[in-house]
Amino acid sequence: PLSMLYDNHGRKINYVRLAVTDRCNLRCFYCMPEEGITYVDKHDLLSYEEMTRLVQLLVDMGIDKVRITGGEPFVRRDMMDFLRHISQIPGLRQINITTNGTTTAPLVPELKAIGIKSVNLSMDTLDPDRFFEITRRNVFKEVMNTFHALLEHGITTKINAVVMDGKNIDDLIPMAELTKNHPVSVRFIEEMPFNGEGSHYPVLNWDHRRILEHLRGAFPNLEKLPDPPNSTSYNYQIPGFKGDIGIIAAYTRTFCGTCNRIRITPQGGLKTCLYDSGVFNVRDLMREGASNEQIRDTFLVALGNRAKDGWEAEKNRNFGLPVTESMSTIGG
Ligand code: GTP
Ligand code: 5AD
Ligand code: SF4
Repeated sequence: PLSMLYDNHGRKINYVRLAVTDRCNLRCFYCMPEEGITYVDKHDLLSYEEMTRLVQLLVDMGIDKVRITGGEPFVRRDMMDFLRHISQIPGLRQINITTNGTTTAPLVPELKAIGIKSVNLSMDTLDPDRFFEITRRNVFKEVMNTFHALLEHGITTKINAVVMDGKNIDDLIPMAELTKNHPVSVRFIEEMPFNGEGSHYPVLNWDHRRILEHLRGAFPNLEKLPDPPNSTSYNYQIPGFKGDIGIIAAYTRTFCGTCNRIRITPQGGLKTCLYDSGVFNVRDLMREGASNEQIRDTFLVALGNRAKDGWEAEKNRNFGLPVTESMSTIGG
């Protein structure tokens, strides 16, 4: 990188999660109510030009990894052109994507050609009926096609499965078994309260410890793998299996000490933590005519005031309001 970016707790920041749209073609119940959410007006979204400028500016500051999230990134028109564009930015080491996989399969060869090396696929079940129950849409087959297309093209693939009491617990073992013959990381995620409904549940029935116990029950020989630096997941493997298994303590927030990421919302809001309510708006700065230097300075101030962890960030939210927005407006 051209330079290095640190926060006030000495954490190096090299990863930006860019949510390119708040729109989605699924209605996962842990993310949105059935009727969906009120989408942002198009002119309130960061334009592709603004996002490109922003990525370039952040790369100049020391960011070398961008994850494209949403909503569902591929519902935004001309997404592939944008990816091709930013893939040309020198110093940007990786562009990764988190997608629901419903429309991604036909795009995989082009993603490969652009140089996308890693895709995270949201898939909470291997059962089509349960898929419908969770996402309220009947497109399981399309997601499976994406899974196979990614593996066929040698793109590093991680499956994200949110663990939901009473919904997909019976899926955990079969999903872990996917790692037997496929070189995939299957990651089980604690459910977080970003469901767009404001129903802040009091207890997390399946925390990372219980998920691990459950897996150990079926696979007593589960082995701990070393976790890569800045990993969100605790990683495991069943000896002899091709893939590996991760557990993400997204609600318990045990990995904040090594957090290396910032987030940009579809409207250009900066979040220095998933749990904060936004620090400043880059889009407004740009549209007011701010120079790159002014924008960089604003980022530096924000990173100098970063909460030490997701618990502190949540406590400091505007007006003490609880976390209720849809994950679709944050990008996860
Ligand atoms: P890699 O870059 O492949 O390590 O993926 P990632 O875990 O950074 O990103 P992904 O979009 O696949 O997110 C997986 C899950 O982890 C989602 O549920 C995210 O909301 C959650 N997650 C990602 N980053 C953070 C974080 O900084 N804090 C918390 N609490 N959860 C996070
Ligand atoms: N809790 C945990 N994970 C969630 N995701 C979306 N909503 C939630 C939630 N309420 C996950 C999706 C996606 C990732 C970016 O965030 O499964 O893979
Ligand atoms: Fe769409 Fe992802 Fe939200 Fe599901 S979790 S509704 S796939 S944005």
